Amino acid sequence: MSDAMLEIRNLRKSFPIRNAFGRQTGEVKAVDNVSFAVEKGQVYGLAGESGSGKSTIARMIMGLEQPDSGEILIGGESLSRSSRGHAQMVFQNPGSSLNPRRTVGQSVAVPLDAHRFSGDRRKRISELLEMVQLPVNFAERYPHELSGGQKQRVAIARALAVEPKLLVLDEPTSALDVSVQAKVIELLADLGRRMELTYLFISHDLSLMRNFARTVGVLYRGQIVETGNVGTVFANPSHDYTRLLLASVPVISKEEEAMRPKIPLIDGEIPTAEKLLALRDADQMQNQERG
Ligand SMILES: Nc1ncnc2c1ncn2[C@@H]1O[C@H](COP(=O)(O)OP(=O)(O)O)[C@@H](O)[C@H]1O
Ligand SMILES: [Mg+2]
Repeated sequence: MSDAMLEIRNLRKSFPIRNAFGRQTGEVKAVDNVSFAVEKGQVYGLAGESGSGKSTIARMIMGLEQPDSGEILIGGESLSRSSRGHAQMVFQNPGSSLNPRRTVGQSVAVPLDAHRFSGDRRKRISELLEMVQLPVNFAERYPHELSGGQKQRVAIARALAVEPKLLVLDEPTSALDVSVQAKVIELLADLGRRMELTYLFISHDLSLMRNFARTVGVLYRGQIVETGNVGTVFANPSHDYTRLLLASVPVISKEEEAMRPKIPLIDGEIPTAEKLLALRDADQMQNQERG
C-alpha cells in the first residue's frame, strides 16, 4: 500500500452533446482514463487549458459528479457518503462561493455545524481567520465589504474548518489581481507546510504551478499526457502540448526567455493549444514543401 492521500484510478466521465432540439448527437470525453496519486503533505498540480477536464475531475473528487467508471480513494478509503468531508474545495470565484447574506463568521461555521463541531465556535472561527491572516473582527462582516483576495481567504478558512485530509483548489487565484494571486499562493503554501496539508492544485497558469506544485500532471482533452516533477517537466517537456502550453507562460528571467519556444502570437492573443498545433503542422508542411 502506498501512503497516497488521494488516489485516482482509471477515472472516466463523458457528457452528452445535444443539438438545439435536445437530441443527443454525440458525447464529449471530459475525463478519459485518468490515473494519478498525491502523497500526504504534497502539492500535485493539474495543468491544462480550458475545457481539458480539470474541473470535472475536481467535482468527482468532491462527490459533486458521478464518475462513469474508475475509482477515487481518499486516505486509502473509497469515496463514499461516509468519506465526504475528507476533502474540501476552494473554487475559482470567491464571490459566488460565499453566501452574500451570511457574515464571514457564519460562512466559516457552516462546515463546523455540518460536522457537528462540539467545541467553542467563536474561538474556532477566530483561529481560522488568524490562520488565513484576516483580522478576527472580519467575522462580523459581509462578503460585499471584502476585496476578492479577502473573500478567497475566507473561502480557504471555511475549507480548513474541519481539518480536511485533502484540499482541492480549482483555479483558486484566477479571478484575482496578479499582485494578490502570489500572496494567496504564499498563504496556501505556508499553511500546507505548517499543517501538512495535501493539495490538488488546478491551474492553467504554469508560472504559479511552477512555484507551488511539486508534481504536475498535464491534462489535454481529458487525458494526462505528461507527468512528473514540475521542474523536470517544465524544463524538458516531452509532449508537444506541454511545450505549447509553456509557450504562453509569462517570462520571468532571461534563462526562461531563452528556453521559451519561439511561437508567434496569433492576432495578438494568447493562442490555444489547438491553434498552436495547427500552426506547427502548417510550419512542418511548408518546410517539407521547401525540401
Ligand atoms: N455538466 C456538463 N455537461 C456537459 N458538458 C460538460 C459538463 N461539465 C463539463 N463539460 C464539458 O467537459 C469538458 C471538460 O470541462 P471542464 O472539466 O470544466 O474543463 P476545465 O475545468 O479544464 O476547463 C468540456 O468540454 C466541457 O464543456
Ligand atoms: Mg475549470
